[in-house]
Amino acid sequence: MLHCNPQPHNIMSTPANPVNPADSAVPALFTPFQLKDVTLRNRIAVPPMCQYSAIDGLTNDWHLSHYTGLARGGAGLVIVEATAVSPEGRITPGCTGLWNDEQAVGMAGIAAAIKAGGAVPGIQIAHAGRKASANRPWEGDDHIAADDARGWTPIGPSAKAFGAHLPRTPEAMTQDDIARVQADFVAAARRARDAGFQWLELHFAHGYLAQSFFSTHGNQRTDAYGNDAIGRGRFLLETLAAVREVWPANLPLTARFGVIEYDGNDEQTLKESIELVRAMREGGLDMLNVSVGFSTPDAQIPWGPAFLAPIAERVRREAGLPVASSWGIDDPVIANRVVEQGQMDLVMVGRALLSNPHWPYQTAMKLGLERPSWVLPAPYAHWLERYRVQSA
Ligand SMILES: Cc1cc2nc3c(=O)[nH]c(=O)nc-3n(C[C@H](O)[C@H](O)[C@H](O)COP(=O)(O)O)c2cc1C
Repeated sequence: MLHCNPQPHNIMSTPANPVNPADSAVPALFTPFQLKDVTLRNRIAVPPMCQYSAIDGLTNDWHLSHYTGLARGGAGLVIVEATAVSPEGRITPGCTGLWNDEQAVGMAGIAAAIKAGGAVPGIQIAHAGRKASANRPWEGDDHIAADDARGWTPIGPSAKAFGAHLPRTPEAMTQDDIARVQADFVAAARRARDAGFQWLELHFAHGYLAQSFFSTHGNQRTDAYGNDAIGRGRFLLETLAAVREVWPANLPLTARFGVIEYDGNDEQTLKESIELVRAMREGGLDMLNVSVGFSTPDAQIPWGPAFLAPIAERVRREAGLPVASSWGIDDPVIANRVVEQGQMDLVMVGRALLSNPHWPYQTAMKLGLERPSWVLPAPYAHWLERYRVQSA
C-alpha cells in the first residue's frame, strides 16, 4: 500500500534532477547549463510554440495548464510562445501579447508556475510583420481576407508580400514606424522582466518582421535599413541594443534567428548571418537559437532528424557564442549526441514534448541516468522511483 510521504513537499524547493556535473557518467543532455546568473537543471528546452488560444492577447487557463505541465515534465527551460509586442504584431487573433499591463498579470502567473515546476521561465517577444493577420493554423493558416473585420493591415520593411498562402502586401514602414515598433519591443521586455521571466528571446526568425528586414526576400529598402547586409541588419541590432538597456544584465538575453533560407543562396546568407550574429554578440546577445529564415515560400528545406545541427555547430564556432537549436530532435540518443559533440548547448524539443510532456523522464531512462525519475518534481518522482524498484 502506498503512503503519503510525511515530509511536506514544497515544489519550489524540490531539488531538481540530482545529477553531479562532475560525474562523467551523467549523459551530456542532463548536465546543468549556466548562462549569466541562470542555471538550467538540464539541456532540454521547450521552444516557443504558439497556442493560438488567446483573446485580445490575454492568456487563460489553457496557457497556464499547458506551461505548468511542460515545466513539471522536467525540461530545464520553458520558453513561452511568440508573444506580440503590439496588436498588429500578432500572427493571428489568437496570439498572446504583452502590450498592456493586464496581459502582464496573466504572464506573471505563468512565469511563477513554470518556476514552481522547476524550470526557468522564458518568453519570446515578437512582431509578425508581413505574416501578421492570419487565420489560426487549423482554420486555414492563410491571411485573413482584407474585408474581414477580424484582420488588420500588416506592415513590413517593404511593400512586398510573402506570397503563397500569405498574399497580402504589407505597408512599407516609415522610420517613425520602425522607432515605434522598437519602443514596443522595449516595453514588452520591461513587462516580461517585471512578470518574473528570467530568459528573454527576441523573435528575429521565421520570416516575421525582424527576419524580413534582414532577408532580401522581404527587404527592398534603399535607406539606412536596407541596401546591403549592414543596412538589412540594422533593425535587429538596434532593437537588441534598445532591449538590452532594460533587460537585466545578469539575465540571459537571447534571439531566435534564421541563419539560412534554403533558397539556393545559402553560403552567402550564412556568411552574412554569422557576421550579424557576431555583431549581436558584441551588442550584448548571450545566446542564439539557430533556426531557418522561412522568408520565401519557395525554400527547399531538407527536413530530417536534427538537420539543422551542423549549421548550429558552425554558428557556435564561427560566431563564438552558445547556441540552441531544434527541428526534428525527438530521439533521446540524437538529443544527447548533439550536446555531447558540441553542436549545441541546449536542445529545443518541440513537438515531442507536445506529444509527451514527460519526454525528459522517458529520455533519462533511455539514456541510463541514475535515478531518472528525479528529472520530475518530487510528487511524481518519489512514486515513480519506488515503482521502478518494486518492478525491477
Ligand atoms: C504548435 C507550434 C507552434 C510554434 N510556435 C512557434 C513560436 O511561437 N515561435 C517560434 O520561434 N517557433 C515556433 N514554432 C517552432 C518550434 O519552436 C520548433 O522550432 C519546431 O516545432 C521544430 O522543433 P520540433 O521538430 O522539435 O518540433 C512552433 C511550432 C509548433 C509545432
